[in-house]
Amino acid sequence: MFKIAVMVSGGGSNLQSIIDKSKNGELNCEIACVIGDRPCYGVERAAEHGIESCVIDRKVYKKELCKEIDKVLSTKGVELIVLAGFLSIIDEEFVNKWKGRIINIHPSLLPKFGGPGMYGIKVHEAVLAAGEKESGCTVHYVDTGVDSGEIILQVKVPVLEGDTPEVLQKRVLVEEHKLLPNSIAKIISERQ
Ligand code: GAR
Repeated sequence: MFKIAVMVSGGGSNLQSIIDKSKNGELNCEIACVIGDRPCYGVERAAEHGIESCVIDRKVYKKELCKEIDKVLSTKGVELIVLAGFLSIIDEEFVNKWKGRIINIHPSLLPKFGGPGMYGIKVHEAVLAAGEKESGCTVHYVDTGVDSGEIILQVKVPVLEGDTPEVLQKRVLVEEHKLLPNSIAKIISERQ
């Protein structure tokens, strides 16, 4: 079975979409572990589903965060690392070691509205402030930049009259929950 690790910082609804699709057989992979960079509901969800999980707190490990994460991942036979709402920046050494084996989901049509400081609700606020007519979400490989790696899959959603950042966020999130499992499935099919 193709082994993945999922890294989270928040609610973990994207993690949940992977759990659901691997449980119902739509996604043929095993979640070997879930790592949070802070205590969060994403880590609790993993525990609720009997998935090995841990918090490697960014406030405790600071510059050593990626080294500590690497120590855990290296023992698990992980073939793909999925950043699902993971907010710490992954350092160059880690990216180089796991090159081509780290993916991230971002709630905009990259390369638009990506980069340092662009995460969560801030992305949707920026999309509305720019008067965009469409937004969406992107799954991409992680390289040494921020939100700059090769795009795997992307889906568009309309921006509607009267949208607030929260309303737009919800519309995009519905698509994220399909796009992330689909991207993992695509990678698995390409590597088998
Ligand atoms: C998702 O919308 C994800 O795209 C975003 O954080 C949210 C996490 O939600 N990620 C970023 O903004 C990364 N730059 P979740 O914890 O419910 O999956």
